[in-house]
Amino acid sequence: MTKLTAIICLTLCTLFAKYTATAQTIFELRKLPYDHNALEPYIDKETMQIHHGKHHQGYVNNLNKAIAGTELEKLSLEELLGRVSKLPEAIRNNAGGHYNHSLFWEILTPKKDTKLSARFEKAISETFTNLDSLKRLMNQKGSAQFGSGWVWLIVNENKKLEVCASPNQDNPLMDIAPIKGKPILGIDVWEHAYYLKYQNKRADYLSAIWNVVNWEEVSKHYEKLVPKGIFDDWQTMKDFHKVMAQTFHPSEEGNLQPIKTRSQEMLKKAEALKTATIPKEFDRREVRKTIDQLIDGSKKLDKLINSKKADDKAISKSLSELHDVFHKIVGLCSPEEHH
Ligand SMILES: [Fe+2]
Repeated sequence: MTKLTAIICLTLCTLFAKYTATAQTIFELRKLPYDHNALEPYIDKETMQIHHGKHHQGYVNNLNKAIAGTELEKLSLEELLGRVSKLPEAIRNNAGGHYNHSLFWEILTPKKDTKLSARFEKAISETFTNLDSLKRLMNQKGSAQFGSGWVWLIVNENKKLEVCASPNQDNPLMDIAPIKGKPILGIDVWEHAYYLKYQNKRADYLSAIWNVVNWEEVSKHYEKLVPKGIFDDWQTMKDFHKVMAQTFHPSEEGNLQPIKTRSQEMLKKAEALKTATIPKEFDRREVRKTIDQLIDGSKKLDKLINSKKADDKAISKSLSELHDVFHKIVGLCSPEEHH
């Protein structure tokens, strides 16, 4: 080998090594947002050191190794999870392990008495009765999960809260998950999460962990996934909208039965808007004027339906006009419109 060939070879080898090194650091382990001993006495320092520094680091390393040099390097973690059924087992386990633990560290905190947002608390009450029942349900599912796994609080496809468990490092974002949704709180029930302090007593670990759950952070996840609707603080308008949605959409498909039976109910909901308090942010002359149009339109529609000469075409037209008036109010109240 000439000196020149040796130099070229060395340069190529260095470049290749560099490329390989870059390719293998696609995903990284984030630092813990608190000290290893910060969650004591509920989770001990040694468990945190091994759990974060060894187990989680292992998932990150193995995930990077599994996707290195493939097209999969271009995908986000969520994209990988969404197609695990078509990917090697190593990606399912390690992408799951990386995602699950990243969320886990985020929703724990040494801060005491973190507060739930009002809307999140309301959603919990509506779905599980209260926060204690939610904790009980998660503890029960977590205890019942055979072997290693996770217990989740998710926002499902209908934007509702739901509790489920999954084996190993699976999670509800995976296409193979029997219950799908976006996790907002996940509790690790692998033995590596509790064995040093709690040995085989998973139930004790599950009871203790609620002392270090960061409800502010979980609330943030919820608020992001289920943003506040524009009429959430205007119950009378929500009531009107409900009847409008349940009658107008069938009418678009040629079914006028709902509006024919509910026109009087809709008129009552419209009239209630006249007397109920309008939230300050929407209380403007133009909004009030459009509410009057909504009441007039509801009256006209109800009268038409009750008249002997009611013809389907006319009913459909009148309902569609009323729907336009409602959407005029939506427009007037939308964030970009009201100042
Ligand atoms: Fe873990």
